[in-house]
Amino acid sequence: MQKGELLYEGKAKKVYRTDDPGVYLVEYKDDATAFNGLKKGVISGKGELNNKISAHFFRLLEGKGIATHFVKQVGEREMLVRALEIIPVEVVVRNIAAGSLARRLGMDEGTALPRPVVEYYYKSDELGDPMINDDHIAVLNLATGEEMSAIKKVALSVNEILRSYLTPRNLELVDFKLEFGRHEGKILLGDEISPDTCRFWDTRTKEKLDKDRFRRDLGGVEEAYQEVWRRLVG
Ligand code: C5P
Repeated sequence: MQKGELLYEGKAKKVYRTDDPGVYLVEYKDDATAFNGLKKGVISGKGELNNKISAHFFRLLEGKGIATHFVKQVGEREMLVRALEIIPVEVVVRNIAAGSLARRLGMDEGTALPRPVVEYYYKSDELGDPMINDDHIAVLNLATGEEMSAIKKVALSVNEILRSYLTPRNLELVDFKLEFGRHEGKILLGDEISPDTCRFWDTRTKEKLDKDRFRRDLGGVEEAYQEVWRRLVG
């Protein structure tokens, strides 16, 4: 598979065309940003770890019947994916109060939620990714009602699959963000699933093993990503 024209460069990834028009190549970068790009940094080794971790989760989910964009891992920091028409909605699923939910609702970080909470955010750097609901999604014509009910169902299944996988590995899935897109008339799970897009806590100590270490200047960022990988495959 030939690496072609650079189609898009985001904060943490680059997307290239390949010689197959239905397949793109994703390259994971070591660059990290937070707070809508206000905080910038480099986490050495992150690109490689996020590529491996995402590939691992996509394989796990495909094995459980979730349709994803993942095709195969092709390099240390590269994977092939199906070309998606991205739906500009970030889907966040939460099991434990943290981050913006803890702030918005005045809950203590670490409070277990009695059931998973699903939230939608409009992907727009200009607007700072505002939270939206099904009505906003319909009015903005981002996705159909049918697509959104399918997406919510898949997001909750992904939550169950990942939690069952992570619990025996001593990792608590606090929350995570998914993105979806259309490919040949089907909705596929896209983007990445990594410590950049999930909150993982050590079940016993509640130590943060994710991008919050970068956001909150806690240090040991690369080590935390390494530790997640070790627990996934160890
Ligand atoms: O910041 P907040 O608490 O809303 O984040 C919820 C989850 O979504 C976290 O796991 C965070 O890493 C992820 N997220 C993301 N990309 C964003 C916003 C949130 O991956 N743009």
